[in-house]
Formats: sequence, C-alpha cells, structure tokens
Amino acid sequence: MSQIPRDRSLDSTLALLLDGYRFISKRCERYRSDIFETRLMLTKAVCMRGEEAARIFYDGDRLTRQGAMPVPVLKLLQDKGSVQQMDGQAHRHRKRMFMSLMTPASIQQIGDLFADQWRTRVGMWKDRGEVVLHEEMQEILCIAVCRWAGVPLTAAEAKQRAREFAAMIDGAGAVGPRNWRGLLLRARTERWIRDVIEKVRAGELTVAEESAAHAIAWYRDPDGELLDTKVAAVEMINLLRPTVAVAWYVTFAALALHEHPACRPRLEAGDGDYLECFVQEVRRFYPFFPLVGGRVQNGFEWKGYHFAQGIWVLLDLYGTNHDARVWDEPDVFRPERFRRWDRNAFNFISQGGGDHHESHRCPGEWITIELMKRAVTLLTMAMDYDVPEQDLRVDLSRMPAIPKSRFVITNARLTR
Ligand code: HEM
Repeated sequence: MSQIPRDRSLDSTLALLLDGYRFISKRCERYRSDIFETRLMLTKAVCMRGEEAARIFYDGDRLTRQGAMPVPVLKLLQDKGSVQQMDGQAHRHRKRMFMSLMTPASIQQIGDLFADQWRTRVGMWKDRGEVVLHEEMQEILCIAVCRWAGVPLTAAEAKQRAREFAAMIDGAGAVGPRNWRGLLLRARTERWIRDVIEKVRAGELTVAEESAAHAIAWYRDPDGELLDTKVAAVEMINLLRPTVAVAWYVTFAALALHEHPACRPRLEAGDGDYLECFVQEVRRFYPFFPLVGGRVQNGFEWKGYHFAQGIWVLLDLYGTNHDARVWDEPDVFRPERFRRWDRNAFNFISQGGGDHHESHRCPGEWITIELMKRAVTLLTMAMDYDVPEQDLRVDLSRMPAIPKSRFVITNARLTR
C-alpha cells in the first residue's frame, strides 16, 4: 500500500479557517496529489478533490455521514436523525420521500410562488432607496418555500424566520459567535416547526396532500412508524433552510450579471439554453458549500491507498468544480462552457455527486436551478435597477462566502 502524502503542520484547523475554500486545493497542488492527510481539530483527516475522488466518495455506502461533521456544524445543517445521517436501505427509504416532492409540477409551483413574491416585493421597494438584495432574497425565498411546503407563515413573522434560517447557514462555517447565534436562533425555528407537525397530525392544520408538510408528517419508516416529532421537524427544516440558502446563489447571479454584462443580451432575449448555462456557471464558479465530510464504513482500497474503517474523509466541492483538468481556465466565468459539459455526475458537485436517489446528493438541486433561473429571468427581463458604488469583494476565507456589501441595488422597478 502507498503512503498518503502527509501535510507538514501538526494541526491545520487554523489554516483551514485562513485558506477557506482554497484549503484543500492549495495543499493538493503543493503535494502534487489529489489526496493528502492532515489533522483538523486534532483528528486525522484525509482530504480529497477531483472527479475520481468524488466517484469514490459518493459510491454506494462506503462512507457514512455519521460522525463526519463537528456537532455545532451538524446542528445547524442536517442535524441528528436526518436523512443525511442515515445509510443503506433506511436512507433510500427516507430519501424517496424527499424525491417524491421533486416532481416537475411541484418545482414549477415553487418557482411561481417565488416569482409572484419577488414581483410583489419589488413594488414595495420603490420608496426605499437602497435595497440589500441578499437580505430581500432570504425573505422572499422563506415566504415562497413556506407556502410551497404548507407551513403557515404570517407576513409579520417572515423577516424573523428568514433571519433564523440565514443565521443557521451563516453560522455553519464559523467557530465562535457566528455559530452560537445560529444555534440560538435555530432553537426557535425548531419549536415553531414541531408545533406545525403536531397540528397537522392532530387535524388542527389542513395541508394539501402533495405538500411537504403532509409528506413529512405522515411519512412512515420501513417499520411502519411515524417519525418522532423532533425528527419530523428536523426534516422539514432541511427543506426550508436550504431553500432560503438559494439566496446566496441568487446574490452571486446578480453579481455575475454586474461583473459580466456581456452575458446580458442573450438572457434579455430569452435564450433558454443560455439561461441554463449561466445558472450552472454561477453554481460552479462562485463559492458556497466548500466541502463535505464522511467516515469510512467498511475499509477499502483506492489507487493503492488504504482507507481504514472510521477514517474521516473530506471531499473538496469547490476545488473539484475548479479542477483545471475538467474546467478549462476554471477561474474565468464562462457560461458557454456548459454547452460542452458531459453531464457527468461527479465533476460538477456543488450539491454533491452521484445519483439523487441512491447517494447523499442534494434532493433540492432541481428546485435550486429553477429558482435561480426565475431570479435571473426577473433580473434581466422584468426589472431595471442600478448598482451603486459598494464593496463587492468576495473573501474566500469566509465560509459561506458572500459579497461584502451583500449586493445593494437602487431605483429598482418592474418593467414588465
Ligand atoms: C443553495 C443551494 C444548495 C446547496 C449548495 C446544497 C448543497 C448540498 C450538498 C453539498 C449536499 C450533499 C451533502 C453530503 O454529501 O453529505 C446536500 C444534501 C441535501 N440537501 Fe441540499 N443544497 C442546496 C439546496 C437544497 C434545497 C433547495 C433542498 C430542499 C428543498 C436541499 C435539501 C437537502 C437534503 C435533504 C440533503 C440530504 C440528502 C441526503 O443525505 O441524501 N438542499 N445539499
């Protein structure tokens, strides 16, 4: 067996916080290897990047997500008891419930709710002067996804709930106060959603049969049991929070339109193929989920390296999306590249890799793409706005990254 290249430093936790999205790639280049071993939080970790690494990472049940993320991060994202923490048959059964919500009609419905809400809000921005697009998007998405899912949300509550979801996303990539704030606010969300599940089950809240609230409240595991209320709430939050997270991509899409105005004419002309390429390039190019973690379930060998049971493995999502062997000039924003993309399930992994039903790949990927398409269409075909002078730099050591000013616009008005 070969020896996995070993990082020199005793512990790389600080380096991870400093190098952020570039942490794994930088070291892969240093060691001329797609794999290296290091220590993070005093624990041995094997870091990997690239298509072949993704293939092994998302292949069957080699790796479990149990014990693969520090608890304060896990609590803010998928949480204990969630589909992501499951393996094998139990995972596939629960995942089927998530995938049953991703029908074309359902995706269209959330897209319509989002676009309607967006149009209503732009009307309200008229007298506001500056509007912070990133914050507005969180609220618009929060309202749209709650309606779609069958979760009651009053207009007065929307801002607060959107802030709670955003704090979970923002806190997941941090240690210290940003993380604690997320945990504190999440406790409120959990109480709110548990109450919704209880009301659906008690018949006090009627929801559409095809809604997510119905699917989760009445989902029965392979033993025929309903989910524990706490776990049902966790799964509901796992639909709501990541949909609010699409605000990060919408903000990056607005930034891309601003920084690459040459892309606009084809979008303004309603070129659907180009719209698809543009949205995919935003998901590839901009930094959002940096990496995912797994732990080896059953030891295996790969490329002459031994992966012992229990080893902690980190897969570089951002670095794989920027791999120059697949993506020519990866640090250039170029939507056209997606015309030639081979639709490979392992070389473009912003939302995980492999098969949506079989692996841990994100079930919300099609919803994400649809919402982004709606957003880009609205920004280019249905409204005018100005982008005043501001600090739009994106710091790659901040996870999750976002333009510093969070994209401020002025004079926003609907044109059609
Ligand atoms: C903002 C865009 C999004 C990004 C960047 C994203 C990213 C990801 C990634 C990387 C994974 C795989 C994690 C792993 O391998 O362990 C994942 C899983 C998951 N995502 Fe997303 N996601 C997004 C949007 C959504 C949406 C809109 C939903 C639901 C409507 C969703 C629900 C989930 C769930 C339930 C899982 C766990 C799947 C499983 O373990 O089988 N995500 N997401």
